[in-house]
Amino acid sequence: MSSRAVTGQPAGESPNARSLFAPVAADLVAADAAIRAVANLDNALLSQTLRVILTSSGKRLRPALTLLTARLHETTLQRRVELAAAAELLHTASLIHDDVIDVSDARRGRPTINATFNNTLAVLTGDYLFGKSGELVAGLGSPPIMGVFSRAVMELVQGEMLRPSLNGDLSSTERDYLAKIKGKTASLFAMCCQTGAMLDADVHDPNVARLRDYGMNLGIAFQVVDDVLDYTASEAELGKPVGSDLRHGTVTLPAIYYLRRHPQDDRVRGLLAQDDNYLEAAGAAVEAIRCSEAIEQAIDRAREFALAAAVQLEGLPPGPVTDALYGLTRYVVDRTE
Ligand code: FPP
Ligand code: MG
Repeated sequence: MSSRAVTGQPAGESPNARSLFAPVAADLVAADAAIRAVANLDNALLSQTLRVILTSSGKRLRPALTLLTARLHETTLQRRVELAAAAELLHTASLIHDDVIDVSDARRGRPTINATFNNTLAVLTGDYLFGKSGELVAGLGSPPIMGVFSRAVMELVQGEMLRPSLNGDLSSTERDYLAKIKGKTASLFAMCCQTGAMLDADVHDPNVARLRDYGMNLGIAFQVVDDVLDYTASEAELGKPVGSDLRHGTVTLPAIYYLRRHPQDDRVRGLLAQDDNYLEAAGAAVEAIRCSEAIEQAIDRAREFALAAAVQLEGLPPGPVTDALYGLTRYVVDRTE
């Protein structure tokens, strides 16, 4: 995919996540160590599953957002690292449970816990991480932050439960899709930015609400692009087979936009209705969507949300942290993996 300028910031080479995280590089090293240390426990089986999952090559985007927003005011390293680690552990717990729900056997290029062991151990590993994340947040001694964290969990669950379908018109399918990704992905981005901004800050700090909105819009843009990459990236980049969403009947924006132009494509409709008679045509159907205008249209939609995120940053003090937050609005749209 080509490099695109999304935010009204000067166009140029798209930033990569690692360079954007430079202002919090040392904090991220400490957060990573805290995350990995969670696997050090006496229970050998749990320790084994945790080690596998906590050392896999995640982007650490959520801890980075937490650390960046916490850097807009005075906090201690230990407190922001604990909050950042909690965000990543909650995210990891939700992915382990999601892999059980979706019966997925690969994530980030590695076999899932449910595939390697079984569903019981996967659910319990996720539960343990969920508990650990709650312990870390509770340790901060901030009931308002605990409240935001708990509401994010409730939003995650409700997003995960939504199943957009093709039963109504495509506009209502798009609305349902956006509601789903807001819940399952963007609510966690919003939580990271909001709680980072809240940590040890003045309760009336106006940045808290703006950064929550920033995180929500950034998260929606991120997930739309994730759903595009499911069609356009390689298996090596994805860490799972290309076109998994269509093959599993998951309705995402590229398929919705494709059907606007090609309403009679029975392969796509059949696969999204989970009609196994169309499984043989899945490769061709993925290719048809991949080569269609729907991909660019979905990217344009992601760009709108990235712009809405960037607008929320206008009142922030200039500096490397604000620059990084702007850079992330470009990164989420331009990324290729
Ligand atoms: C991935 O979606 C799923 C999520 C980002 C959220 C999953 C949320 C839950 C299971 C509920 C909350 C759970 C806990 C432990 C608090 P996807 O299947 O579309 O993407 P994928 O391709 O990465 O699997
Ligand atoms: Mg899944």
